[in-house]
Amino acid sequence: MSAAEFAAGFRADFAADAAATVPGEAAWTPVCSLGDIPALGARRVRRPDGVDIALFRAESDRVYALLDRCPHKGGPLSQGIVFGESVACPLHNWTIRLSDGRAQAPDEGCTPAFVVKVEGDQVYLRREQLLAPIATRAAASCGGDCGRAA
Ligand code: FES
Repeated sequence: MSAAEFAAGFRADFAADAAATVPGEAAWTPVCSLGDIPALGARRVRRPDGVDIALFRAESDRVYALLDRCPHKGGPLSQGIVFGESVACPLHNWTIRLSDGRAQAPDEGCTPAFVVKVEGDQVYLRREQLLAPIATRAAASCGGDCGRAA
């Protein structure tokens, strides 16, 4: 698979730690190999604040990262069913778009999305996003227009 990267609202002002991070390769943290994420499945990555990131491998074989918390009632999206470029929450079956974490109509809300890079078999997340407070990520990822807090 070729390198894949998508921007989902990255901002450079997430955490004090981020201020010390020079943009570039040093800011990427290897989190797993591509083979660690099952096809049409997910793998969780621990964050310091206790709220995990869920890495998803979509039908296109592209990798996406969302906070592992449904915008409805906090269901673990990593345990949902991945189909196409979306995941169905295991609790009440809301459909969440993997590219930006938005719930699909008629449902409303979003969960924070994170930038992912895949090079060869290695999957990377941005270090500052792993360390960022969740409330900041929620506002950054959805532009603050979904009306939902993380
Ligand atoms: S918690 Fe995800 S659909 Fe209800």
